[in-house]
Amino acid sequence: MAATVLENPLREGMRLERTAEPCVVVILGASGDLTKRKLMPALFRLAQARLIPAEFAVVGAARTAMETDAFRAQMRDSVAEFSDEQEIDTQVWESFAQKLYYVTLDISTPADFKGLGALLEKVDREHGAQGNRLFYLSTAPQLFAEAVKQLGVAGLTKSRGWVRVIVEKPFGSDLESARELNRRLHEHLEESQIYRIDHYLGKETVQNLLVFRFANGIYEPLWNRQYIDHVQITNAETVGVEGRGGYYESAGVVRDMIQNHVFQLLSLIAMEPPASLDAEAVRDEKIKALTSARAFTAERVRADCVRGQYGAGAVGGETVVGYCEEPGVAKDSTTETFAALVMYFDNWRWSGVPFFIRSGKRLAKRVTEIAIRFKDAPHQLFGREMMDQVAANQLIIRIQPDEGITLRFAAKVPGQVTRVRDVNMDFRYGSSFGVQLAEAYERLLLDCMLGDPTLYARTDMTERGWEIVMPIIEEWARTTGGVTFPNYEAGTWGPEASDELIERTSRRWRRP
Ligand code: BG6
Repeated sequence: MAATVLENPLREGMRLERTAEPCVVVILGASGDLTKRKLMPALFRLAQARLIPAEFAVVGAARTAMETDAFRAQMRDSVAEFSDEQEIDTQVWESFAQKLYYVTLDISTPADFKGLGALLEKVDREHGAQGNRLFYLSTAPQLFAEAVKQLGVAGLTKSRGWVRVIVEKPFGSDLESARELNRRLHEHLEESQIYRIDHYLGKETVQNLLVFRFANGIYEPLWNRQYIDHVQITNAETVGVEGRGGYYESAGVVRDMIQNHVFQLLSLIAMEPPASLDAEAVRDEKIKALTSARAFTAERVRADCVRGQYGAGAVGGETVVGYCEEPGVAKDSTTETFAALVMYFDNWRWSGVPFFIRSGKRLAKRVTEIAIRFKDAPHQLFGREMMDQVAANQLIIRIQPDEGITLRFAAKVPGQVTRVRDVNMDFRYGSSFGVQLAEAYERLLLDCMLGDPTLYARTDMTERGWEIVMPIIEEWARTTGGVTFPNYEAGTWGPEASDELIERTSRRWRRP
């Protein structure tokens, strides 16, 4: 199925002009990995695509002492290393580099924020940024609240232009800390100034979920308990903890992936149609969906949640160590690197429809997909035996990699006898649009510079995510429940208990 790309008619309320407003982006924690790998390459690509105006500058701030020239050179290397472009356009880089500055700053030192303020005044004047400021909190998470406090005390949360603050993940480590962080941010900032990032929302395929569901008339009538048997969300990674053992030990997959990224996908699938594309209208519907998610009691955690931790194995033909052998991880760690859950939404649309969710590290394949499994035809005209050979109708939305959508249905095998087989109708981003998909951070940074918070998490969303998973976290911390780790081999699809969880309901996980 090749999609023909039609020109979009101009629609009121839809922003087609997407050049950012003049501004200075201030990265707090600029010496970290995120700046090198994601932020600077994204800002550079936006500049290259002329989506950032000339009246723009970036100020990197971190504890490491460094001169602006060294910062510029370092950023050039990072952009070269982490961009997909074959070569950096030297001319574009030279003019971009002139807009980069660096200042040494310790989050706990008020005088450093005064210094930052003075530098911002100067940079603002030189580049004509009109007092608009975007602060990106890329520090250690325990410094987020302190950084905002210091900005507030130094008078930097107000300006003659706009001031917005992007808060990186993790947003708290449990419900209490997330609430506390929201409270402390609100002491110095209006909610409209706070942009809580979840990079999954910046992925092109995730944004397409809204378009797919609500720009088409044919799917929505089927999108409910009458026609859908169940939904599977798979978020599988082949990587391990990638040198972040210290952080991961205090996290685990429920904190690291499920309460944020996976729940974002879940809410986009389960939500009702919003009245408009207004940020609040969309976010209201997402939170409404999550509000109807059935609570996990301790009993439900035992029945409907499975945890796993990988042991040594082979991934992609390469031998890898078990989680407990990773640097920074305790030898007897009980942190989960895999989880599978069954969720229900107690509302009219979804009553009785199970949503099976699994997420894990060191699994057999890197894939994030949402599979909508429709109910069987009500009457087996072709006989049970024949129909047993085919899977039920499925709509598979591939978030990554190999982005696209597949509809799986039964068709007659050509020939004189009637035989039925599954076939696919495929949409692939690559072949239909012929463009490389933009990186999530590009879209999200641009949206923030445009003042559009639709793809950012609101206070209630961050807290609701935690609220849902807290009983799981608490029950798993309280008891091992007889589970001994490791319980799955790296390079497989997780522990046996995950298969048992779904097979108990006479269903099976897809093997993507
Ligand atoms: C991050 C997690 O938020 O998302 C990582 O901290 C994880 O542990 C990553 O690997 C996955 O992101 P993506 O975009 O590769 O699916």
